[in-house]
Amino acid sequence: MKIRLDILRKKRGGEPYLQSVLFEYSDPKTTVAAALTEINADPECKDIEGKPIGKIKWECSCLQKKCGACAMVIGGRPSLACDSVLSSLGERVRIEPLRKFPVIEDLTVDRSAVFDRLRDMQVWLDGQAQNDETTTASAYEASRCLQCGCCLEVCPNFCVDDTFVGMAAAVPASRLIAQTDRKQSKELYDLYRKRVYEGCGKSLACRNICPAGIDIDGLLVSSNAAAVWKRKRKRG
Ligand code: SF4
Ligand code: SF4
Ligand code: FES
Repeated sequence: MKIRLDILRKKRGGEPYLQSVLFEYSDPKTTVAAALTEINADPECKDIEGKPIGKIKWECSCLQKKCGACAMVIGGRPSLACDSVLSSLGERVRIEPLRKFPVIEDLTVDRSAVFDRLRDMQVWLDGQAQNDETTTASAYEASRCLQCGCCLEVCPNFCVDDTFVGMAAAVPASRLIAQTDRKQSKELYDLYRKRVYEGCGKSLACRNICPAGIDIDGLLVSSNAAAVWKRKRKRG
């Protein structure tokens, strides 16, 4: 099988350019991550114009959909490279870095804004978590967030310089909102109201985009109910 990979590249301090590679593979389960690894391992690899490719910079760690490091835009959709199977992408696909973050080089981006937002939201537990049937399901769902940033990519309201923190911080915050009450986490509840509820346009463009399959809109509804409307909601 063959696929043409149109990769948006950029050297440090340089201008972006597109480089196309014809990639051959035999295993139908081959992923974009495997293709990038193989291309980088082949010093003879050339693009479709016969020019040497040079190592394509991209990030990965677990290669098992657990760390979020390999998030990029594949065929126009923010996705994990280790979870994107070439055979499902047709004969030609465009691969780009996430567009909401500063590009470092090629497909690597600076996602420190995501982690800064987690710190800003004070997403840590002070005291005892309340674990009961109302809170545990929400807390478990929220705990699956990889901080990959795919939900931020499609969010019309998120930009790295704004106060709205986006779902990559709101989802972990919703875990603590589920497991604590306003008295225990007053600062977090207030921050949620200001930096999530008031900034989110409720467009739900982030619904169904999460590579971890997190029920983002369900968590939003539960956290809004608790932090804004002062009602704990039981997950169905
Ligand atoms: S909610 Fe999903 S898409 Fe957003 S950062 Fe977490 S894992 Fe990624
Ligand atoms: S509902 Fe809309 S504005 Fe709110 S986080 Fe999702 S995409 Fe962004
Ligand atoms: S490398 Fe960890 S999610 Fe892809």
